[in-house]
Amino acid sequence: MRIVKSAAVMQQLAKRWQAQRRRVGFVPTMGYLHEGHLSLVRRARRAVGPRGIVVVSIYVNPTQFGPKEDLSRYPRDFPRDKKLCRAAGVDVIFAPDDHEMYPQSSGGYSTIVAEESLSRGMEGASRPTHFCGVTTVVAKLFNLVLPEVAVFGAKDFQQAAVVQRMVRDLDFPVKIIVAPTHREPDGLAMSSRNKYLTPEQRAQATVLHEALQLAAKLVKRKTVSSSALKAKLSQFIARRPAARVDYIEFFDPQTLQPVEKAARGTRLALAVFFGKTRLIDNAQL
Ligand code: PAJ
Repeated sequence: MRIVKSAAVMQQLAKRWQAQRRRVGFVPTMGYLHEGHLSLVRRARRAVGPRGIVVVSIYVNPTQFGPKEDLSRYPRDFPRDKKLCRAAGVDVIFAPDDHEMYPQSSGGYSTIVAEESLSRGMEGASRPTHFCGVTTVVAKLFNLVLPEVAVFGAKDFQQAAVVQRMVRDLDFPVKIIVAPTHREPDGLAMSSRNKYLTPEQRAQATVLHEALQLAAKLVKRKTVSSSALKAKLSQFIARRPAARVDYIEFFDPQTLQPVEKAARGTRLALAVFFGKTRLIDNAQL
């Protein structure tokens, strides 16, 4: 397994693979890897085959964090990430630093990529600059790694949709695969941010998954008004004293537009604070 820190070296390697017609599968991450990330690595390997190249990027992208968010305390453990990647059969880790990605030399960095429709609601409403940071860094990473396929997790459903739209709108020659959400045995979606939770918060954090299941049950046989369901889920979540709802949204999985009535096939996304830690989850009902 090779570790590449330089953007220029990464792109040279990628061009060489392209010339050799080797298939490249890419999994962008911010590190502090867990089984959810590794399931994406396995999906990438399945897509490119044993002779293909699997690249994982590990980069905590500052431009997708708001000024009051957790950039400085975001968990990092590169030695552990390296071991996990090696064991998972990753070929190359691309781990640039901020100077490689957003150089301050020769005039500085001043270009952004912004998706202006799907990124507006939900995560975009709660975190106004977030998706612009995501699309900008993912566009840069695609240009450095030149992947044929890139794998994203359904855990960040809106992110995957925004990236798919960017790829379509800007004609990136990349196929996006969206892989299922990997969960702890008690249903909590795996996330690097779960590390922040106190034992009490951790115990109550299963409420996100429980709320998704409750909603799925309620719409199983009939259509229900989204506002009535939101009220019910808010009450259900409020029974956990450590939880504070940020948003509950019922939406069309294609357009990401809110729907007034929820039924089977509607997508539900939740964001819930536990202290300063904000967790998200979503599911198709
Ligand atoms: P990060 O939060 O590290 O997630 C990297 C990828 O892993 C994303 O596609 C995310 O959806 C996926 N993922 C996270 N938890 C998962 C789980 N429990 N099951 C399945 N997949 C999961 O998302 C980012 O980083 C960044 O925004 C990034 C795309 C790297 C751009 O900086």
